Amino acid sequence: MTISIFGLGNIGLPMSCMFAQKFKVIGVDINKERVEMVNNGISYLKNEEFFPDILQEVIKKGNLRATADLEYAAKNSDVKIIIVPLILNDKDEPDYSAIDSVVEVISRNLNEGDLIIISTTMPVGGSRRIYEKIKTNKKFCFVYAPERTASPHIIRDLTESYEQIIAGIDKESADKAYKIYNTINKKGVIKVSSLETAELIKLLEGIYRNTNIALADEVAKLCDKFNLDFNEIREIFNLVPAYNLHKPTIKIGGHCIPVYPHFVLQYLDNKSLIRKGIEIDREMPEYCVNKIKKTINLKNKKILILGLSYKRNVKEDRFSPAYELIKLLKNEQVEIYCYDPYYTKEEIEEKTKVKYLDIKDLEKVDGVIIATDHNEFKNIDFKRIEFVFDGKNFLDKEKIKGIKYLGIGR
Ligand SMILES: NC(=O)c1ccc[n+]([C@@H]2O[C@H](COP(=O)([O-])OP(=O)(O)OC[C@H]3O[C@@H](n4cnc5c(N)ncnc54)[C@H](O)[C@@H]3O)[C@@H](O)[C@H]2O)c1
Repeated sequence: MTISIFGLGNIGLPMSCMFAQKFKVIGVDINKERVEMVNNGISYLKNEEFFPDILQEVIKKGNLRATADLEYAAKNSDVKIIIVPLILNDKDEPDYSAIDSVVEVISRNLNEGDLIIISTTMPVGGSRRIYEKIKTNKKFCFVYAPERTASPHIIRDLTESYEQIIAGIDKESADKAYKIYNTINKKGVIKVSSLETAELIKLLEGIYRNTNIALADEVAKLCDKFNLDFNEIREIFNLVPAYNLHKPTIKIGGHCIPVYPHFVLQYLDNKSLIRKGIEIDREMPEYCVNKIKKTINLKNKKILILGLSYKRNVKEDRFSPAYELIKLLKNEQVEIYCYDPYYTKEEIEEKTKVKYLDIKDLEKVDGVIIATDHNEFKNIDFKRIEFVFDGKNFLDKEKIKGIKYLGIGR
């Protein structure tokens, strides 16, 4: 059996390596540079577990070959897994263009009995919409199999941390996919009752996180109001196992959690809690900058933003809070700098349009805003600057002496 995997990104590449340990895999991507790197056993995923060793192993065995020729891959595989992005357009609505273009090629090259698996996170009804668009006289199987995983431990998540959820358009489809995932996932495979059930379970990850972080943001605002410590409150509150108060943040980043709640908004009215959660998150960068301004006179100050990644210990900056901070700070009379150990000086300056400053030169700035909780930032010696705003509430404030410490709700 040959599996083609369309989309060799953060998820698609580890997934290809994982399947290539058991099957022949054709990895497909429109990005020719990525295709070439994969075929040469070179990984573009920074810090992903088991990389680049696992990639080199499956390339050497001949079990994984990458191509930019979508037609070839579609024609020469029995199973076609799609894991290209589904993003939001300018109106914050789902943009199916990438997935539609892949499905169009697959439809034209289907063989009798082929299995199509959608792995990209879908709006409710999105998989059925794709199924109905496939025009062919061949009999084929169709499954939605969302991925419950996150960098930098994709393979571990997909093979042993969580059960694989699958939903088939019919029993034959589900049974076929079950057999394949069962050879991969040690934790097990769960068949759910419909495509839409699987879609909503997956979407709930983002909705649950977004809404709960918004609640934490509100609790943090109360802490600021009454001069309380959010971390102390959270720690004690969460001692009861039924409770899980999340952490507040400057802005939820990445292309998953802030995106998924939008996939259901059209079905909810204006009073929707989910909608409110999105709004609260959107207002947080301004809330944080205002909080700094209440204590610190920012005029002519030099400010260093620590962390361009949206998430700790990975190189990924889509929807990163650093960008929101920079936008807001540009309205103040401040000089803005940025540093992130995962990005070069050139990458930082090109992406942010602000100056790079090495952490070694920390004393050259007046204040620091922590936008990402990379391990490297945990034990910085902040003495000699005026203030630090801990946008992740992860520093030990007792250890920070002689300078002003501010956090969200701290
Ligand atoms: N990143 C995560 O943590 C995560 C977790 C669970 C699920 N997902 C799902 O996986 C999807 C992909 O995420 P990712 O992080 O791997 O994205 P990514 O942006 O890292 O990679 C996407 C890849 O798809 C390729 N691509 C785009 N259009 C294509 C096309 N028409 N044909 C072939 N290749 C194409 C791109 O060149 C890129 O290499 C997400 O949209 C989401 O639905 C992501």
